[in-house]
Amino acid sequence: MCGIVGYIGKGVAQEVLLDGLRRLEYRGYDSAGVAFHEGHQFFMARETGRVGNLAQSIQRKCSSASLGIAHTRWATHGPVTVSNTHPHVSYDGKFIIVHNGVIENFFSLKRFLSQKKIEFTSETDSEVLCNLIAYNYSILQSDGDGFIESVRMALSKCSGAYGIAVICLDYPNTLIGARRGSPLVVGLGEDANFIASDASAFVGRAKDAVFLKDGELAILTGTDFRITTSEGQEAQAVTQPVDQISEEVDLGDFDSFMEKEIFEQPLALRNTLRGRFGDDGTTAKLGGLEGHQDELRNLDRIIFIACGTARHACMVGEYLIERLARVPVEVEHASEFRYRNSPNVGNSLVIAVSQSGETLDTLEAVREAKTKGLLTLGITNVVGSTLARETDGGVYQRVGPEIGVASTKAFSSQACLCAMLGLALGRMRDLSPVDGRSIVDALNGLPNLVSEVLQQGEQIRELAMKYANAEHLLFLGRQSLYPVALEGALKLKEISYAHAEGYPAAELKHGPIALINTECPSVFMVEGTELSAKTIANMQEVKARKGPVIAIVPQSVEIPEGSADDVFRLPDAHEVVRPILANLPLQLFAYHFARLRGLDVDKPRNLAKSVTVE
Ligand code: F6R
Repeated sequence: MCGIVGYIGKGVAQEVLLDGLRRLEYRGYDSAGVAFHEGHQFFMARETGRVGNLAQSIQRKCSSASLGIAHTRWATHGPVTVSNTHPHVSYDGKFIIVHNGVIENFFSLKRFLSQKKIEFTSETDSEVLCNLIAYNYSILQSDGDGFIESVRMALSKCSGAYGIAVICLDYPNTLIGARRGSPLVVGLGEDANFIASDASAFVGRAKDAVFLKDGELAILTGTDFRITTSEGQEAQAVTQPVDQISEEVDLGDFDSFMEKEIFEQPLALRNTLRGRFGDDGTTAKLGGLEGHQDELRNLDRIIFIACGTARHACMVGEYLIERLARVPVEVEHASEFRYRNSPNVGNSLVIAVSQSGETLDTLEAVREAKTKGLLTLGITNVVGSTLARETDGGVYQRVGPEIGVASTKAFSSQACLCAMLGLALGRMRDLSPVDGRSIVDALNGLPNLVSEVLQQGEQIRELAMKYANAEHLLFLGRQSLYPVALEGALKLKEISYAHAEGYPAAELKHGPIALINTECPSVFMVEGTELSAKTIANMQEVKARKGPVIAIVPQSVEIPEGSADDVFRLPDAHEVVRPILANLPLQLFAYHFARLRGLDVDKPRNLAKSVTVE
């Protein structure tokens, strides 16, 4: 979602800011802009579309400034136009702001400012905040701290979420950042300091980073910085080496990050699994949970909170954990959990799952759970992310940066960690050492099985070619393959824009079967359990109505003649790894299907990698 970069130092701001914006491109955006403080004036450039467009238009401005702020915008208030693109300048021309998040009371603030005859040039809530800062500045007795005070006063009047960077014409040596709800991190370099929504924006330039806490302000000069609370008291700055929080990302020989990330899943899963089994080889040992053994042993239920693909991984976890550990599991949309009057019964554990660790809905749900006194654990990929910092404990996915907007390797590792959690909880309860050992073996064997499936990628490309004209597709599976059906449908629609839906296979006849015709392919995942025959019967129901059927089936399951048009074979495998294996052909199918339509799979329309608004 929106990205912020700010720079103050001895170098050329233009170079640093454009480079930073490019590194944030993966978050998803629809316009980009930059502003510099140079001499006694501001230079600003804004463009809709890609950062490349912006770079071209700045070339003409040729700034040599060493203070500036930049932004990639994902539209919330107002359409994608140059006037709505950040940065925004205040009505008096003194302040420039970039803003992530949503100022929820922007309308009443705008009315207040309009009554003061202040005019607006955009439809954004961000311009309202900028004008409020300028208005405060005009009414304050302007002493040395007028800039900081005006920002602080304005923020105290805002409700909602913000991460901002602001510069002021009267302060050529100051860059201010502040956050509440939206992430913001300060980068500390040599003779230069940075502010960004994501540390990857200044990797290689800053040595250390300081993650701002909610309500904090950072006041930066080229050589110094300080952090204050929202009330203005000095706050402690905890620094972390940048190389420990962010890794460089490189496309290698692949055409897109999505393709690269699909094919690096064997390695990603090896990293997820590495060193995480007990010495006797019968259980999982997840370091981040070690301090919570008593709570885990006495659990009455688990509530997973997550969004999108991460939620589908949790649903896989629901089936596996209930089966292995006999602990009741609920999976909630984070955005729904937050506002529900969910009864707080027994010893409940909340597990929040988020690749980015910055999804606002998930973070707010965690905060709500903590307010209710629940133990919260996190599963996230991003070291040092807000989720990692705000939960009581947790586990890192260790799959390396996921840049493709469509989540692939993160899903596999989240589902794998859920299986490991099920194993660990199961072994604390009824699960026998023999069963534990067979699950450990299955998980250890997973990376090789994933490689085996990915090697058949060409067959999936051919299937995608065969069905490339379909505009409606159904994905169906039972039990732990039902969330895989949901995930297959999500993956396809988000990058190819075809309409796809996922259902439990048996649910087909309760409505969706009305969609079946020769133009609507159905993709069935067959379990390889006693339920296989029932799923095959559902396939035959589709065939009887002339619907094309693609079956994804374990090697040993026989598919009767005429029940599927195309069959893709998976290796026979333990139930704990089957959902991960069954999802691989669906990832590849979505990828090829979208590429055959000439679409950019890494930057699907309207989507953002890190969703930092509600
Ligand atoms: C789909 C996708 C999204 C994310 C969702 C949660 O491919 O990527 O549905 O899974 O926005 O993101 P995280 O896991 O970062 O909380």
